Amino acid sequence: MLFKQQALLKQKLFVVGSLAIGSVLYLMARVGTLDKLQPIYPMETRYPSSEPVEIPLRTLQFKRGLLHELRNGNATKEQIHRHNLVQQLPRAIIIGVRKGGTRALLEMLNLHPAVVKASQEIHFFDNDKNFARGIEWYRGKMPFSFPHQITIEKSPAYFITEEVPERIFKMNSSIKLLIIVREPTTRAVSDYTQVLEGKERKNKTYHKFEKLAIDTNTCEVNTKYKAVRTSIYTKHLERWLKYFPVEQFHIVDGDRLITDPLPELQLVEHFLNLPSRISQYNLYFNATRGFYCLRFNIVFSKCLAGSKGRIHPEVDPFAVAKLQKFFHPFNQKFYQITGRTFNWP
Ligand code: A3P
Repeated sequence: MLFKQQALLKQKLFVVGSLAIGSVLYLMARVGTLDKLQPIYPMETRYPSSEPVEIPLRTLQFKRGLLHELRNGNATKEQIHRHNLVQQLPRAIIIGVRKGGTRALLEMLNLHPAVVKASQEIHFFDNDKNFARGIEWYRGKMPFSFPHQITIEKSPAYFITEEVPERIFKMNSSIKLLIIVREPTTRAVSDYTQVLEGKERKNKTYHKFEKLAIDTNTCEVNTKYKAVRTSIYTKHLERWLKYFPVEQFHIVDGDRLITDPLPELQLVEHFLNLPSRISQYNLYFNATRGFYCLRFNIVFSKCLAGSKGRIHPEVDPFAVAKLQKFFHPFNQKFYQITGRTFNWP
C-alpha cells in the first residue's frame, strides 16, 4: 500500500516537473523570438525613408501596450512628443459591406504590429454634418500611432453612399480600399436580423423577412428593400470604379473569414504591402462562441461582441431561392469586374 502511494507521488512529481520545465522552455523560446528584428514596411509611398524599418517585436509589443494605454485617455502631451506619436489619416479603409464581417476584419488586421485601428465607425464621408467639419476633424478621430504604422478605419455605410467615392478620392486618390462580402442572400438575412433585434429591444413588432424581401403582389424580389439593394454588390462597386481603378480594391471573402480566417488575412497583408505577421497563434477557434477569437499575446485574447454572430431566423426556402436567382447575374458581373470568384449559387 505504502509502496503504491510512493509510486503515485513519484508519478505526480514527474508530471509537475515536466510541465514546469516545458513552460520555462516555451517562455525562453518566445522571449528569443521577441528579439528578432521584424521588418515593418507598410505601403509604398508617403514614407519618410525608403529603407525598410526593422524593429524588435518586443519593442513593438511594448509600444502596442503603450498605445493601448494612451488610447484609454492617459496620453499626456509630453508622452505624445516623447514617443513621436501622430494621428494619421487612414491609408486603407474598410468601406463595406455591412454585415460582411467588417468588424472581424478590422479587429483581426489590428493584430498586425504595423496596423492601428480606429475603434469607432467614424462616418466622416457618408454623414454630411461630419464631413462639413473638415479633414482635421477626421484626423482628430484617428488613434495615436507611431509614424511607421498605418491607420485603418471601417465604416460600412461608405460602400452604399452616393457621395463617398468622390470625397475619399479628394482626400487620397491612392488610398487602399477593402470590401468584405458574403453570399448576398445570407448577408441580406443578417442585415434583417440586426434591424429585427433593434426593433425587439424597443418592444416594436416587425415584418417577417419574406414580406420585406419579396413583393406580395408580384411575387418578385423587392429591390426597394435596403437589405436587398445592399447585396447587389456590383451596382455599388461600379460607382466606385468611376473614381478608383480596380487594383485599388481588395475583395475579402467574408464567409471564409468566418471558417478559416488566416488565409484571408494573409491576402490582405499582401495587398497592403505589409510583411506577413499574423499567424495561426493569433487566431483560435472558440467552440462556445462558434467563431474564431483573437490572441494578441500570452495574456491577452478576446472574442468579438455577442452582437456579431447572431442566430438568423428561418427563411422560407421559396424566398431564398427567389433571392439567389435574382442575385445570380449581379454576382457574375461582380466576379468579372473584381477577378475574384465565389461559390455563390
Ligand atoms: P452574423 O451576425 O450574421 O453571423 P459586421 O461586423 O460587418 O456587422 O459583420 C457581422 C458578421 O461578422 C457576423 O454576421 C458574423 O457572422 C461575422 N463574423 C466573421 N468573423 C467573425 C468572428 N470571428 N466573430 C464573430 N463574428 C464574425
